[in-house]
Amino acid sequence: MSDRKILVTSALPYANGPIHLGHLVEYIQTDIWVRFQKQRGNRCYFVCADDTHGTPIMLKADREGITPEALIAQVGKEHLADFTAFGVAFDNYHSTHSEENKIFSELIYTRLREAGHISSRTITQAYDPVKNMFLPDRFIKGDCPKCGATDQYGDGCEVCGATYSPTELKNAVSAISGEKPIEKDSVHYFFNLADFTDMLAAWTQAGHLQAEVRNKLAEWLEGGLQQWDISRDAPYFGFEIPDAPGKYFYVWLDAPIGYMASFKNLCDKQSLNFDEFWTTESNTELYHFIGKDIIYFHALFWPAMLSGANFRTPTAIFAHGFLTVNGEKMSKSRGTFITARTYLDHLNPEYLRYYFAAKLSAGVDDIDLNFDDFSQRVNSDLVGKVVNIASRCSGFINKRFANSLSAECSEPDLFLEFVKANETIADFYEAREFGKAMREIMALADKANQYIDEKKPWLVAKQEGQDALLHDICSVGINLFRLLAVYLKPVIPALATEAERFLNIESQTWPTHHSQPLLNHTVNDFKPLMTRVDADKIAAIVEASKENLEKTVAQTQAPVEKEKLFEPIADVVDFNDFAKLDLRIAKIIKAESIEGSDKLLHLIVDIGDEVRTIFAGIKSAYAPEDLEGKLTLVIANLAPRKMRFGTSEGMVLAAGPGGKDIWILSPDEGAVAGMRVK
Ligand code: 2FM
Ligand code: ZN
Repeated sequence: MSDRKILVTSALPYANGPIHLGHLVEYIQTDIWVRFQKQRGNRCYFVCADDTHGTPIMLKADREGITPEALIAQVGKEHLADFTAFGVAFDNYHSTHSEENKIFSELIYTRLREAGHISSRTITQAYDPVKNMFLPDRFIKGDCPKCGATDQYGDGCEVCGATYSPTELKNAVSAISGEKPIEKDSVHYFFNLADFTDMLAAWTQAGHLQAEVRNKLAEWLEGGLQQWDISRDAPYFGFEIPDAPGKYFYVWLDAPIGYMASFKNLCDKQSLNFDEFWTTESNTELYHFIGKDIIYFHALFWPAMLSGANFRTPTAIFAHGFLTVNGEKMSKSRGTFITARTYLDHLNPEYLRYYFAAKLSAGVDDIDLNFDDFSQRVNSDLVGKVVNIASRCSGFINKRFANSLSAECSEPDLFLEFVKANETIADFYEAREFGKAMREIMALADKANQYIDEKKPWLVAKQEGQDALLHDICSVGINLFRLLAVYLKPVIPALATEAERFLNIESQTWPTHHSQPLLNHTVNDFKPLMTRVDADKIAAIVEASKENLEKTVAQTQAPVEKEKLFEPIADVVDFNDFAKLDLRIAKIIKAESIEGSDKLLHLIVDIGDEVRTIFAGIKSAYAPEDLEGKLTLVIANLAPRKMRFGTSEGMVLAAGPGGKDIWILSPDEGAVAGMRVK
């Protein structure tokens, strides 16, 4: 047993939505690393929890007519079931709405306050006079102060890209009640992050971060550190701040403390020594796996909080990139916003574990799930190369040798080559270069297959008096397979466990240079360990994910602020309101680019009784010349809108997820400009 003691965390998922494949990149990455550490004999603990506090969760519970406690209990169960089914084996899965988290949040806050790192002042914010609550930026909607686009969020315009404060929005309304927000003062509590400028400048350059993250941090530090607003006013689902009635810790204050709380919960269950991992004298290791969108919280706020409260800081933060599917951001309409559950309903989770492993590196680049590549890799590597070795050899071992392996290894050099690869593969796993580890293992699998191809046991089996040779070849094959299985065990633990059952051996630890082949050993009957990816199943996942479209609440992938995760659900439209729309088929007479705008096109359209000017944000999908002569659907009675480039006198109704996929109607001989749409 090595004496490394390691505590590992994955970011805590929000308790307001399902786990999806984007999340799983991180949990699978962390789980592989943890399993590898455990297989090496290190004492490694993997803890996580649901991230349960904040406005979105409070409002979601409200909409569902249940308490936030009931909501988070339900979601927590679903999350853990999904993780478990994907083989993500936490040593503890807890909740930030726990007694331990309350105690540590209060302790850290009090220590920071006593050390002079907390201040308070009055700030003015938007307030919903109907719901009687302050409105986070994402819960305010209105017209962009720069370009006039309607229905924009309080923090930035999705049409012109401008960023602003919610008070600058024109015609602002609360996304919760629809009421015009008022401005209201209240006292907020701040963490004086700037007190830690020197500490963070040193810490961020001291080997705890990946190079690209370190550079980003240097930029942020150069720009100066601002006070961090850590309080929210009631009503808020969270922990009340000590000595500040009606004020609650902002969810991002207690979320990382949830790492400690989950570990404390584990320590209490297993009589582990909490202090050994968290005091400033600790010589244990602490790693946080996170997405690159939450680096600010983990590499600035968190080390500052820990250091200011006299706890140890992390050994390293490991950030990863986002997941794209078939080269694009996950999209509900394309059926590529796939929940863990939908995937599990159709496909073997170990396919995805292997695929992610094959694509992962130690960097922060995004990784792409391409379904063709996915099938091809799983089928060719796992089924075609690895499992194939066992199935090619086990039949003869079973039928001709009563499942017994030969007494000697006839290929000691080849076996030793496989054993010696343990170091290189271990180095790749340790460095989170899983893609490189997989390539190394598959190169060995190729060698094993080559050996079998050359020795042709199927021909030897037909030759008289060649039993010993056949026995040796197949025994070598099975021994090589055993090593491939142990090297792949962190990635595909279920398959590796099945392989151990077949091989009739104990759970395999990491090989050393002294590892010996199985000789004179009886294996069990071989059962197929993995089947090929069925293309129909992938199609079924995409289909089911499109169906989910209406059922699930949008969860974006890269929120910087907690509130940004939440997309308020649009109110239903009353028929009378719908009937007010004057929808017309319009003919595009002229279309032009606009200097200074990379999104908008200037359209002149004929709506039957009139010619109108419309500015439409469809430049990403159409070249102007492709549009002229086309028919499209417009709302003709929208109030004219003043924009930077002129006044828009209507709106083109386009459909699609965005980018190149925005569709307007094609020319149709039968349709006539001006036709009213009923
Ligand atoms: O971004 C997120 O999904 C957050 N729920 C992560 C929290 S990680 C930690 F700080 F708790
Ligand atoms: Zn704008």
